[in-house]
Amino acid sequence: MPSTSNPPELLRTERLLLRRARPEDALPLHGIMRQPQAMRYWSTVPHPDLATTQAFVASMINPPHEGSDDFIVEAEGRVIGKLGSWRLPDLGYIFAPDTWGQGYASEALAAFIAHRRAQGGGALTADTDPRNSASIRLLQRHGFVESGRAVRTWLVGGEWCDSIYWRLAL
Ligand SMILES: CC(C)(COP(=O)(O)OP(=O)(O)OC[C@H]1O[C@@H](n2cnc3c(N)ncnc32)[C@H](O)[C@@H]1OP(=O)(O)O)[C@@H](O)C(=O)NCCC(=O)NCCS
Repeated sequence: MPSTSNPPELLRTERLLLRRARPEDALPLHGIMRQPQAMRYWSTVPHPDLATTQAFVASMINPPHEGSDDFIVEAEGRVIGKLGSWRLPDLGYIFAPDTWGQGYASEALAAFIAHRRAQGGGALTADTDPRNSASIRLLQRHGFVESGRAVRTWLVGGEWCDSIYWRLAL
């Protein structure tokens, strides 16, 4: 029987370590989340200062709700991004642009999906901007199917963005 309690704090893959967030992750994560390229299709504008990323990390560490299962992703000791569910079942991820295209997100997502299955199934959901080809490809590769579309769902930095909704049954 899959267990629903005591989720593991660490997931290891061939190249990656997925672990829970710590306060000191704010600095490397800020190096990612301050970049317009990385935040192009995020739900907020690029983080303008370290304090914004510190608040983001604090919320990963102590989410204001039940049912969070979020991870910092490390490669060879370097924080290269985050992947997981800040609020289950919604999936969220961001990786450092200088690591894109090497299969890291795919490797981390495979581990997270297996981990969620081991926790007892259910589903994962995601919301992508229709222009975010890399994110869409990543989700499709891992079996997510489109469950709907909506326009003008996010107002970010004065620009309305649309959504494609995705779902993976576990
Ligand atoms: C989306 C993101 C996590 C992908 O990370 P990544 O480590 O480059 O992804 P991978 O190398 O594992 O590639 C995953 C798949 O996407 C494809 N892909 C990668 N970049 C792509 C691009 N620019 N256009 C189209 N497909 C792309 C890869 O070929 C791969 O597909 P495949 O398995 O069929 O070959 C990364 O681009 C990112 O951090 N983006 C900014 C944050 C973001 O938009 N998050 C999602 C919000 S919904």
